Amino acid sequence: MKDPQPTPVRRLDYAPPSHLVDTVDLVFELAEAHTLVTARLGCRRNPEAREPAEALRLDGELLELLEIELDGKPLGPNAYTLTKDYLEISGPLPEQFELQTRVRIKPQENTAFSGLYRSSSTFCTQCEAQGFRRITYMLDRPDVMSRYTTQIIADATRYPVLLSNGNRVASEALEDGRHSVRWEDPFPKPTYLFALVGGDLRAHAASFTTRSGREVRLEIWVEPHEIDKCDHALQSLANAMRWDEEVFGLEYDLDIYMILAVHDFNMGAMENKGLNIFNSKYVLAALETATDDDYEGVEAVVGHEYFHNWTGNRVTCRDWFQLTLKEGLTVFRDQQFTADMTSAAVKRIDDVRGLRIVQFAEDRGPMAHPIRPDAYVEMNNFYTSTVYNKGAEVIRMYHTLLGAEGFRRGMDLYFERHDGQAVTCDDFRAAMADANQADLEQFERWYVQAGTPQLHALGTWADGRYTLTLTQSGPPSLGEQSYLVRHMPVSVGLLGPDGNDLPLRLEGEDQAAAVSGTRVLELRESEQQFVFVDLPAKPVVSVLRGFSAPVELHIERSREELAFLMANDSDAFNRWDAGQRFATDTLLAMVGAIEAGAAAVLDPLFVDSWGAIAADDALDGSLKALALDLPDERVLGQAMSVVAVDAIHHARAQAMASLGRAHHDLLLAAHQSNVGQAYDASRESIARRRLANTALAFLCASDPKQGGSLARQQFDSADNMTDRQAALACLVELPGEARDHGVLAFHEQWRSDPLVLDKWFAVQARAGVADTLERVLALRDHADFDRRNPNRARALLGTFAQRNQAHFHAADGRGYRLLADEVIAIDQLNPQVAARLVSAFNSWRRFDSERQALLREQLERIAASPTLSKDVGEIVGRALAVSHSGDIDLPG
Ligand code: TRP
Ligand code: ZN
Repeated sequence: MKDPQPTPVRRLDYAPPSHLVDTVDLVFELAEAHTLVTARLGCRRNPEAREPAEALRLDGELLELLEIELDGKPLGPNAYTLTKDYLEISGPLPEQFELQTRVRIKPQENTAFSGLYRSSSTFCTQCEAQGFRRITYMLDRPDVMSRYTTQIIADATRYPVLLSNGNRVASEALEDGRHSVRWEDPFPKPTYLFALVGGDLRAHAASFTTRSGREVRLEIWVEPHEIDKCDHALQSLANAMRWDEEVFGLEYDLDIYMILAVHDFNMGAMENKGLNIFNSKYVLAALETATDDDYEGVEAVVGHEYFHNWTGNRVTCRDWFQLTLKEGLTVFRDQQFTADMTSAAVKRIDDVRGLRIVQFAEDRGPMAHPIRPDAYVEMNNFYTSTVYNKGAEVIRMYHTLLGAEGFRRGMDLYFERHDGQAVTCDDFRAAMADANQADLEQFERWYVQAGTPQLHALGTWADGRYTLTLTQSGPPSLGEQSYLVRHMPVSVGLLGPDGNDLPLRLEGEDQAAAVSGTRVLELRESEQQFVFVDLPAKPVVSVLRGFSAPVELHIERSREELAFLMANDSDAFNRWDAGQRFATDTLLAMVGAIEAGAAAVLDPLFVDSWGAIAADDALDGSLKALALDLPDERVLGQAMSVVAVDAIHHARAQAMASLGRAHHDLLLAAHQSNVGQAYDASRESIARRRLANTALAFLCASDPKQGGSLARQQFDSADNMTDRQAALACLVELPGEARDHGVLAFHEQWRSDPLVLDKWFAVQARAGVADTLERVLALRDHADFDRRNPNRARALLGTFAQRNQAHFHAADGRGYRLLADEVIAIDQLNPQVAARLVSAFNSWRRFDSERQALLREQLERIAASPTLSKDVGEIVGRALAVSHSGDIDLPG
């Protein structure tokens, strides 16, 4: 595996392929020991190729070549070159020709879950980004689009169900106990969208009638015992299909849409044409086993993969540097879908919270990259929060700048121009600009430069005029690079003394232009002033409403102003954000006091404002739960130049206890009046559970005795996983009988359900209680821990390393050693999973020097591993190479 200095692939080196492959005809013979793949490729010279190539180089890895023929004639060993990553057919080659190969592969030994592999007894595939080359020799790049036929032959008893992309066109029983099924996909597609399935599976099915009246068969394929957990996924699929017709005018294009759920999967799900393959976590749901958040996750991911059918499949990426073209856009579409299905405000807050914790951290660490990266060593390392979530924010800015209708016009033009093509982010931007006669030249910079822009806002008030000065600048992590001034939408409102929005009129505008509410200001310069006139009283400004741009906002705020916005802002996002800012300020003051050995007290104004939120009956329970939740320890850490691991942990725990005490009766009422209601899946019912469980956490923090008994009661009597898991999360914080009871009973009940068992590991790995590290070390040796299963590895190790700042960063370095040991072990099985886990070390320079030394030691130990993969090598290489904040030496 170890390659001393793998050379990065660079975006600007793009060249069109030497050849095109119009047809791919595949025959798979699936069997226990190995699988045989015969591929017939209909090739021709690419008229667009820059230099007329003599030879044809096909990608291929871990393949055993058995036969090779060109136009029906076997090729001798001198006619081609074979290496560990390609097969090159020497020229001269005809203008057009047919190449047939037969290879042997070993899906049973494929622990990396890329290419053709086994998950329990099912054969399945994962080809994005570059897994097809582990199946057969082919031009494995997204700008080569082909029409596929796939014949699958396998034992009829073990593998009665054989699936691939498109339509089933033939099936027959063979004499040797095997059977054969043939599939044909009428839509040309790149290799990464190929899929194949073979197993003993059952389908939960329904029919969907498209807007134009076509019948589509929907099938969710699972193991037989899981068949009663598919209904929510099926409903979600129908909802997504309807939504895309209504909002974007997009219809499904095949007669059948299949989803397979497997338990071994490297990511969330995969949008293979007509045959999605999903991590079972995003398919299976029943009220006894899945939480409200799990249900929402299923709907969002089913929607996401469905939306790829147009944004990704019908129009795909020219090369992998354009990944955000499909991922940023599809995340934006799934966010809008979820917002419409649930609550737009809750969804927006959830997404921005995640963006700040993960993407902002990525932007200031060693892996920082633009949403359209310039270089990669291992493409799988660039399926990042930056490409996906910041990419979605960039799409959202087009939407904000052009309006919903303008955005739709741009989308329509994009499909009109590019249906069936493999295109670039520039093509998307051009469609948006041309459809709206908008100038989006400067907007390109969002694709070009890494790092989170800093937005400074300063307001002055005089004579009925409010002048807002907006300044944008680059983050310190840019190093030597100069900041590219962005074109950004800044949504703004002004609150009057009564808390209501004032009419907004900019100097020089018509009187009639004034409307109360939010205005989108377009910032294009490094500094710009906006003068609001005719104001009856001094306003309080609300800036970046709805988080209108992915930036860090800096604005001076008094405690009183924050309390005022927290109580009054009409923009739900900014109202929440004011509360978070107030909480962060007061918690950081406590951290400072703790570090100075002084008494830490929570700001009484914050305690009151928080209580007012808790008492506000007009506020929806989901929003209230978000508003009451204190900022994550990682968010507090991000606000410090050196993360004060222990002081942050203690300050936050102490604040929860103080708030729980100060507002005990209110919290008790919120818990008692909302818990234990008859379960249903409505928004109202979900909101009740969220509020009740948030209240319970504060009650446990302030009074472990009373809180613990409430948690135990809830744990024992809950009829749904939302309440049971929330109760368990409280019990694990209470060492002794309460915790032992919860941990044992939960394991006893759910030991044979892998998704629920993952929760059991994750809840314990997330705990704040003092002995968490010991317990995590013991769980790593638990019989049910299985590092080969990505979900299980992530549940224990990912949760601990990425979500438990206090204990992962235990001062003695044992958390670091645990992660490094596991990364080294997992890397030999599954480099993609190992690379995601090792990323927990990326923030290592943000800790004190003792911790830095311990972290560096583990990074160096991993880097020295003799079996280091390209995946992990690229991440640790960059983590160690960064010489000062953000100045990155790319490897190679
Ligand atoms: N394209 C998929 C999505 O976003 C995710 C994906 C990319 C993936 N690479 C993968 C899934 C590798 C599994 C394995 O929907
Ligand atoms: Zn996607």
